[in-house]
Amino acid sequence: MSKNIIPRLRHFEQSSSQQHMSEADRYLSKLPSPTHNFVIIGTGTIGKEHMRVTHLLGRARVHGIFDTRKESADIAEREFAEISSEKLVRYSDLDTALEDPAVDAYFICTPNYTHYEVLCSVIKTGKPIFVEKPMATTVPDSVKMVEMVNEYSNFIQIGLQYRYKSQYQEAFHEALVRKTLGEVKTISVSEYRPPFLDKIGQWNKFSEYSGGTLVEKCCHYFDLINLMAESEPERVFASGGQAVNFRDFEKDGRASDIDDNAFVIIEYKNGIRANFTLNMFCADFDEEMIVVGEHGRLVAREKACFQQQKPPCSTIAVELGEQGASRVLEVNYPRIIEASGHHGATFYEHQKFMDQIEGKPADCATAEQGLWAVVVAAAAQDSIATGNPILIESFLVEKGLGHLLA
Ligand SMILES: NC(=O)c1ccc[n+]([C@@H]2O[C@H](COP(=O)([O-])OP(=O)(O)OC[C@H]3O[C@@H](n4cnc5c(N)ncnc54)[C@H](O)[C@@H]3O)[C@@H](O)[C@H]2O)c1
Repeated sequence: MSKNIIPRLRHFEQSSSQQHMSEADRYLSKLPSPTHNFVIIGTGTIGKEHMRVTHLLGRARVHGIFDTRKESADIAEREFAEISSEKLVRYSDLDTALEDPAVDAYFICTPNYTHYEVLCSVIKTGKPIFVEKPMATTVPDSVKMVEMVNEYSNFIQIGLQYRYKSQYQEAFHEALVRKTLGEVKTISVSEYRPPFLDKIGQWNKFSEYSGGTLVEKCCHYFDLINLMAESEPERVFASGGQAVNFRDFEKDGRASDIDDNAFVIIEYKNGIRANFTLNMFCADFDEEMIVVGEHGRLVAREKACFQQQKPPCSTIAVELGEQGASRVLEVNYPRIIEASGHHGATFYEHQKFMDQIEGKPADCATAEQGLWAVVVAAAAQDSIATGNPILIESFLVEKGLGHLLA
């Protein structure tokens, strides 16, 4: 039997009870050798998460890092040394990173407003590329990126990893594969959370740099809703504003202009209606998706008690009345995986990235899916700004992007 098919037991591998094993005695806990070299571009919050997750998954190694800010690279290098004894290359500029023949794939983890420009350089390598979400701050830049990807000889994956959270994996399976709910009619998603955290240069406090709150953060939720609806958005209406957060925040004499609450309604071409609620002035994190079909209701929920420092808890409830068996389940991944970032979703995102590199089928977030998440988010921002419902067809045609509707 091949060693590769024995599932890893990371908890035991890391347990002190196993640390005295010699290499010769390691069979179950023998670590696979990483086969690919990654470079992380932008080593801030998420760049470091990708570094840790690459190491935890173990199928690739972090070969090198590049950040325009020395302090970010210094801290990433220090944190890397805590998890790995391998050498880490620190590039002095992007071109040097892109010219290194030892590299197999690049992760673009820089702020939103830089993704398009950095991708234009990285794509010249012809290697697999991972681009963090949102793929760009505007619809036209996202479209240009999709066009680049369509011409690309390799693949590009977008960092929309919420789809791999355990509760959503189960929700998609119930609603779209088992079809337990019958035909889906409505989808409601909500996120209650604390304010945006500090960022390098505070790029997330300004719509110009982030694309606006609904693009920056909520593209994750619009991706989930698009996937669940299995259709294209037709009309978007939203109301939102800046009620509490960063109202007195200024940088270089400029006031923060990002929303901290919003209600968004989306109508899909197949008749599904969806809504999304955002509130960002809460002490804790509570995320919920409710899907209702002809035969039943599904509730997927994740609650994290930051204040009590309890691990997040995810559940899924299926309520079928007389149509079948109802149930409530706690869903989780191994604790070590959940703790590595975004409740384990980033780990499974890396698994898919590696599968793609190895030519295996993988349901990854494509550039086109990344674009549709930005389209809904940008239309919602537009609706907030104008007070009008936004017809996606006119919205795209006005931007000269009518060809997307074909
Ligand atoms: N998928 C997710 O769940 C998730 C979570 C957090 C952040 N993100 C996304 O990841 C990206 C980075 O966010 P963050 O929270 O790590 O931000 P951050 O501010 O913590 O870090 C960004 C880093 O990029 C560096 N940088 C800026 N421009 C650069 C350039 N041109 N080349 C190289 N380095 C550059 C900065 O110096 C900084 O160290 C954003 O697009 C954000 O939306 C995604």
